[in-house]
Amino acid sequence: MHAIYVFDAYGTLFDVHAAVRRHAGEIGPDADRLSALWRTKQLEYSWVRALTDRYRDFWGLTEDALDYAFAKIPSAPRAKRDDLLDAYRTLDAYPEVIDTLTGLKQAGAKTAILSNGSPEMLDLAVEAARLGDCLDAVISVDPLATYKPLPSVYELVTTRFRVFPDAVSFQSSNRWDIAGASAFGFRSVWINRTDEPDEFADMPPAATLASLVGLETV
Ligand code: LAC
Repeated sequence: MHAIYVFDAYGTLFDVHAAVRRHAGEIGPDADRLSALWRTKQLEYSWVRALTDRYRDFWGLTEDALDYAFAKIPSAPRAKRDDLLDAYRTLDAYPEVIDTLTGLKQAGAKTAILSNGSPEMLDLAVEAARLGDCLDAVISVDPLATYKPLPSVYELVTTRFRVFPDAVSFQSSNRWDIAGASAFGFRSVWINRTDEPDEFADMPPAATLASLVGLETV
């Protein structure tokens, strides 16, 4: 067991494809492609804005990315824009999330989110998924006005909990986020939900799981 378990939010605790899935029938045959492109562009925008030092909050990037996805996939009805954004505010948590967080807390660990998400969107997501009681902290990059995987972002955790990086187990489904966390000195666990091939060989995870199940044993 580690003293502190910190989780990426989108893709790790919350299913980013739940928004499109809720409206898949009306979006049509390109629904999956729309959802994948929405996510890819949202992340790309975060890296470009961090590198150019032109911060726009993650909700803004989520809107920009959806607009790009609609432009790229004309078969998807733009009239669903507001419904999709509303759904993104209250994404489903993956089924094992509550039990994992509750178990870690019962075992005496501290738990937190560290996310690119803006504070408002994180608060809504945590509330909708009823995770508030099993989290000690919800940490957003927003006060730093930049994005993961910059080291200063991971440092928000060590500053908040007043610990050295090796006290922290960091979980993310995003392999690039694991690279950043490992480079910073966290023990990192890659939650490889979609069986992706490994990358960033010099910034490896300490362990890999297919979901959060079994996290307390690795
Ligand atoms: C987050 C994004 C990267 O929650 O998924 O930080």
